Amino acid sequence: MKKILITGGAGFIGSHVVRRFVNTYPNYQIVNLDKLTYAGNLENLRDVEQSANYKFVKGDIVDAAFIQDLFDKENFDAVIHLAAESHVDRSITNPTEFVMTNVVGTVNLLNSARTTWKGDYDRKRFYHVSTDEVYGALGEGTEMFTEETSYDPHSPYSASKASSDHFVRAYFDTYGMDCVISNCSNNYGSHHFPEKLIPLSIHNIQQNKAIPIYGKGENIRDWLWVEDHARAIDVIFHKAKSGETYNIGGHNEWTNIDLIRTLCKVMDRKLGKAEGTSEKLITYVTDRAGHDLRYAIDATKLKNDLGWEPSLQFEEGLEKTVDWYLANEKWLNNVTSGNYQSYYEDQYQNR
Ligand code: NAD
Ligand code: DAU
Repeated sequence: MKKILITGGAGFIGSHVVRRFVNTYPNYQIVNLDKLTYAGNLENLRDVEQSANYKFVKGDIVDAAFIQDLFDKENFDAVIHLAAESHVDRSITNPTEFVMTNVVGTVNLLNSARTTWKGDYDRKRFYHVSTDEVYGALGEGTEMFTEETSYDPHSPYSASKASSDHFVRAYFDTYGMDCVISNCSNNYGSHHFPEKLIPLSIHNIQQNKAIPIYGKGENIRDWLWVEDHARAIDVIFHKAKSGETYNIGGHNEWTNIDLIRTLCKVMDRKLGKAEGTSEKLITYVTDRAGHDLRYAIDATKLKNDLGWEPSLQFEEGLEKTVDWYLANEKWLNNVTSGNYQSYYEDQYQNR
């Protein structure tokens, strides 16, 4: 029996992690704490919300008193921390919000875990979910980020995530707290909020709107199927030694423009349109400020130590992703209209 706090479980990756843990471990109690910002959507968890081992709590990790109260009431054995402001473009227009949630929110959770566990970390664990963006940008060559790569964040988002990683390591070094961190590359799959490149492009193709490509579309990202990320988190949570860091990635690098051209072909085929129709929507727009050129993850350590590897080829994952969005137009319409927020407003007033 374990009681696990998963933060940010109503978001994209968090909902996949919650689903995996609720379904795989009926003997665990899963408490999903989420503020339900614009990115949090309880519709993502409809299939597990009635499960006996699942509970949702609405709340803000920035509210230290509320977090301590929750820890006092629930006596968690472990934390899997995903709650964050996650979109780079939003961090450029509103950096402070990223400091509050990503840095202060993380420190609040660490403090409450420390107070609750009182220095006894036997069977306790604080798992912090982070990003490859903390390592900065790679050049066009073949170099990859390893766990030894120095931190060099460029955007307010990645600076806030880097800061939170440092705090987690500081609690391991200073207080001996059982902590693990993983740094993952770009995820894709179902329930991805349509402000991010892949779901935004799918949505715009459906709506016959322009697909905005920043700069020349030559930036490179390393894409991983979100369910493979959730499986990696499961493996690391259960098997990693305290204090360890693992990189997670798909060995799957694409320039943005090649990725979107491939997506356009898939969409044309699925929508019964002539090949080349969706590509006409591609529109080059002003580049993102401080746009990192390339990310690529070396996940050898995770493979060698814990036996994890990605399960899905990208072409297959992209087909599945497109199929999910086409079958879930209601989800997409609710998200883009904001309906999902008012729908749940009355049901979850736990505070
Ligand atoms: P997301 O934006 O889809 O979801 C974030 C969730 O956190 C939402 O449900 C939101 O309501 C919640 N949240 C935000 N602020 C909160 C607060 N103050 N208190 C409580 N809950 C709050 O994000 P995502 O893409 O699912 O990313 C999840 C985590 O994984 C983040 O920590 C992110 O940095 C990391 N990550 C994401 C990717 C990716 O490709 N999306 C890759 C690597 C790492
Ligand atoms: O690498 C992991 C990170 O991946 C996560 O930590 C972040 O939370 C997640 O948002 C993601 O960050 P990116 O900035 O890489 O993802 P995004 O989907 O915003 O952009 C992917 C690439 O596409 C990037 O090079 C910018 C570009 N882009 C993005 C958008 C939204 C466009 O060209 N046009 C767009 O409209």
